[in-house]
Amino acid sequence: ANTYLTGIKPTGDFHLGNYVGAIKPALAAAKVYDTYYFVADYHALNTVKDADELRHSIRSGAATWLACGLDPAETVIYQQSKVPETFELTTVLTALTPKGLMNRAHAYKAARDRNNEAGITDLDAGVNMGLFNYPILMAADILIMEATHVPVGRDQSQHIEYTADIAGYFNNRYGQGGQGYTLPLPKGVIDDSEASILPGVDGRKMSKSYDNHIPLFLPENKLKKAIRRIPTDSTPVEDPKDPDTSVPFQLLTHFVGPDTVADVRKRLERGGTGWGDLKNELFEAVNAELGPKRERYEELMADPRQIDDILEAGSVRARERARAVLDRVRAAIGVA
Ligand code: TYM
Repeated sequence: ANTYLTGIKPTGDFHLGNYVGAIKPALAAAKVYDTYYFVADYHALNTVKDADELRHSIRSGAATWLACGLDPAETVIYQQSKVPETFELTTVLTALTPKGLMNRAHAYKAARDRNNEAGITDLDAGVNMGLFNYPILMAADILIMEATHVPVGRDQSQHIEYTADIAGYFNNRYGQGGQGYTLPLPKGVIDDSEASILPGVDGRKMSKSYDNHIPLFLPENKLKKAIRRIPTDSTPVEDPKDPDTSVPFQLLTHFVGPDTVADVRKRLERGGTGWGDLKNELFEAVNAELGPKRERYEELMADPRQIDDILEAGSVRARERARAVLDRVRAAIGVA
């Protein structure tokens, strides 16, 4: 049977990129498959070192899933740290994973490149072991639930490939024999079209770490302001414009149907539609889709007991499944 699994790091505000890239496709899959969706709090710990902030973000992450339509009767929603079997599996996988694979991981390389560009001679400055080991922990998240499908944005594709590689190392060593055990190799469920990564207001990938993101549940007036503030060039209203280099246009394509996309494209290319008009259309579309979800989110956050109970119950269920997998792993490697 197919098991879909995905996680979101609680590092602050969830944003439009998380929603379009992961939450929406994951919730569509929840109608059809066995689904396990979680708040990746131990991944967030690499960057969030304030306890109150982390506690708030974990709740906010769970509330975001619920407000977007996750039904706990249909999907197991849980908190990563409440499934400690994950961390035992991480230790096992660490012993099988070549360090060179981690050296080539995009996020680690990007951190070194940033140091290099800043003229810092120790390229590992500011890199903690959590960042270095990140792909192994993520592999354990996926493999501990025997997930077969992982809906994520395109920026996560290397992590999914690494997970399949790491599962392969395990299977080659322990897949056969008396107590042998074979981990399923997961596949990414990834929209690999060019447009699938949402740009932030500066045109780079929308990301909390670039501080270029539009938070998912901004109050209406702030959402309007955030959209108005997206930089655009000074092409006059009547002149032709290039939709493909326009951040508001690219965002709009994720919140309206194909007919509207084609129509707006035509109007921009022909001239006569200003960036201000485009931003108004973008605001209307985003607000129409997210307005009701924002209300639900605010209700949930106003009385978080319900969130905590749902997360706790889901974590108990997730842990049962993880326990069974870990028992097989322990037998296969010879510690039990
Ligand atoms: P995170 O928290 O950075 O992002 C959560 C999800 O949102 C997607 N995403 C985007 N999609 C389109 N455009 C964007 N600008 C954009 N920004 C983010 C991401 O691809 C992701 O799907 N490592 C993961 C969390 C994780 C995980 C896992 C995921 C931990 N363990 C196991 C799947 C399975 C991460 O940092 O996502």
